[in-house]
Amino acid sequence: SQRDLNEIYAFAVNLGKEAGKMLMDAAQLRMGEGNATREQRGHIEKESAVDLVTETDEDIEAFIKKEIAKTYPSHKFVGEETYSKGATRDYLIDDSPTWCVDPLDGTVNYIHLFPMFCVSIAFIYESKPLIGLINAPFLNQFFSSCSGRGAWLNETQALPLIRNPIPPMPENAPKGCVFSCEWGKDRRDIPDGNMQRKVESFLNMAAEIGGRQGKGGMVHGVRSLGSATLDLAYIAMGAFDIWWEGGCWEWDVAAGIAILQEAGGLITSANPPEDHATASIEKVRLGSRLYLAIRPAGPSSTESGRQGQ
Ligand code: IPD
Repeated sequence: SQRDLNEIYAFAVNLGKEAGKMLMDAAQLRMGEGNATREQRGHIEKESAVDLVTETDEDIEAFIKKEIAKTYPSHKFVGEETYSKGATRDYLIDDSPTWCVDPLDGTVNYIHLFPMFCVSIAFIYESKPLIGLINAPFLNQFFSSCSGRGAWLNETQALPLIRNPIPPMPENAPKGCVFSCEWGKDRRDIPDGNMQRKVESFLNMAAEIGGRQGKGGMVHGVRSLGSATLDLAYIAMGAFDIWWEGGCWEWDVAAGIAILQEAGGLITSANPPEDHATASIEKVRLGSRLYLAIRPAGPSSTESGRQGQ
């Protein structure tokens, strides 16, 4: 019920704040490690040379898992680091009440001390992400959402902050939109999985739309933040218009999806970028691993340009 959900939300907000503090402390420690090289600061390669984990990821996940088990012992827990330690595929999302956690999304950013990293926590029920928390302590940004109640930045500012007037479908992108896409971590050269080709075709689409002077025209920019969940938060905010990534895991997107949907944005499991123009907005399937997110539509289809609220 909404009452249960409200209670879970209150618990989750505190958890997100505590975990964010842990991340902030760890990052400050890391920054203070003076002349230490990246290697000395420590990280471990998981499945490939770009799939990395630090002690911070593991410590924060252990903390979140313990707190959830204390308060909601019957709830399922799905976390990135627990999974990488050998849990199997049926460990992933089903219809039971589930917490889906990325203790540190943007691990590569964290290792390189680029501030786009965060804790990402989602509560999922019947496979729907109902609550989302994203705490990016270095940015002083705390995104949260509760199904049926809304989505917020720093608990007070309702999302989207920026309302864009025209629905930004790829074939009808508004003037001055910002696209975002991610490289992910899969570097295998397989026909459907070649990241370079996928990113290239996404960029070609942006360039094609961006190159038009008239109706569709002029993409303001293309970004690649290194944190899928923050990409979704920025779409929810209205700062970004379209985001694409292939190869995400549930914990990379669950909290972002909850926040985006509550802000009125759309997410679809996407075909490869060359098919984006025809991709339909379907019910999001967690685990589809190919996503296209589109920011909340604004109040009117006749106005042009951005406007504040
Ligand atoms: C990664 C980041 C990155 C995205 C990858 C994710 P991690 O998560 O979100 O932006 O491209 O697909 O796996 O490893 O930093 O938690």
